[in-house]
Amino acid sequence: MENYMKLEIAAISENESFARSAVAAFALTLNPSLSELSDIKTAVSEAVTNCIVHAYAGGSNVKKVYIECRANKSEEWGELHIQITDCGCGIEDVDRALTPFYTTLKDEERSGMGFTIMQTFMTDFSVKSEKGKGTQVMMSKKIGVAENEELRERVNA
Ligand SMILES: Nc1ncnc2c1ncn2[C@@H]1O[C@H](COP(=O)(O)OP(=O)(O)OP(=O)(O)O)[C@@H](O)[C@H]1O
Ligand SMILES: [Mg+2]
Repeated sequence: MENYMKLEIAAISENESFARSAVAAFALTLNPSLSELSDIKTAVSEAVTNCIVHAYAGGSNVKKVYIECRANKSEEWGELHIQITDCGCGIEDVDRALTPFYTTLKDEERSGMGFTIMQTFMTDFSVKSEKGKGTQVMMSKKIGVAENEELRERVNA
């Protein structure tokens, strides 16, 4: 079974919690555990916050965040794919931006851990960005794998 959804929202901080809850609600079709759901919410939150605070910081007419999700479900496990895209300033050096604690907004209480958190909480993660054009974050998470492994271990014990 494959499921799909697409969201287009204004890049304003009020929409950060909306985006996080919308993706979490979509992910429910995969029967995630509370911990998997919380990982997804945190990762989406970080990606959308980056669009709001970094992408459009220099001003832009568009100021939108585009979120696309796909859910694949088999009998054993599920997989959620999320794409979060902006048409903002882009990132000059993606490798450097991915370095833990690297931030271009030091004075504004940013810790430079957003990308690191996304990488840690999701199964797959990648970023495409072009200076002056925008940034796209792709993330996916396998759902129910840990649970199945635990069950298998119990059965085999
Ligand atoms: N969507 C984006 N558009 C433009 N630049 C971005 C975008 N996302 C991230 N960046 C750049 O990458 C850097 C690292 O991002 P990351 O989320 O890891 O840290 P941060 O946002 O600076 O701090 P934190 O997420 O801990 O609050 C940012 O400081 C910013 O320069
Ligand atoms: Mg961030």
